Amino acid sequence: MKKTSIAPSLLAADFGNLQRDVEMVNSSEAAYHHIDVMDGVFVPNISYGMPVVKAIQKNATKPLDVHLMIVDPDRYLEEFANLGAHILTVHYEACTHLNRTIQAIKALGMKAGVALNPHTNVILLEDSIQDIDVVLIMSVNPGFGGQSFIENTYDKVRATKALINRKNSSALIEIDGGVTTANAYKLVEAGADILVAGSFVFKSSDPVATIMELKG
Ligand code: DX5
Ligand code: ZN
Repeated sequence: MKKTSIAPSLLAADFGNLQRDVEMVNSSEAAYHHIDVMDGVFVPNISYGMPVVKAIQKNATKPLDVHLMIVDPDRYLEEFANLGAHILTVHYEACTHLNRTIQAIKALGMKAGVALNPHTNVILLEDSIQDIDVVLIMSVNPGFGGQSFIENTYDKVRATKALINRKNSSALIEIDGGVTTANAYKLVEAGADILVAGSFVFKSSDPVATIMELKG
């Protein structure tokens, strides 16, 4: 199994001990800190906003992988660039002018990610895939941690990989939601490069070891 990049989702962290949990990620073999921003409109839940992202950034030593589950993300791209986002991911379903949004993210010096809800077919990225740095495939309906993995994801990863190859794109494939050691291997085999894991990492008795296990 090839070595995979792991992005622990801080949504599952203990917010009363946020610094401790960010430092756990720093000390682990994780590749990124995954940061979920939810607005209560695009998704039914509100997670946290800029002051919390800033607090994470202050202690983080790995690149920030920021996943925006918000409507009209264009309004905040610059603010997230200033907060030190390395990858900035917007939802396909939240962008009317996706091409413009991708270009704006890149012009601000960040990697551009595009997330797809479970019902959104990857073929809709056919005309943008060459400009995209990361395709984030939601393997649960976005909004909450701790949900169960949608099995159709494997086919979707294969379809995404095929599209990337066909279009000569260098986009990475990231999977988000319900990731555990029970599906990590198959996801990587199907073409996944980055695995996000919230509950499975933070609810484990030894998160650093769990991150290593997920990495394969
Ligand atoms: C869900 C978020 C995920 C979430 C994953 O909308 O995008 O990043 O934190 O949590 P788990 O791994 O618990 O499904
Ligand atoms: Zn996420």
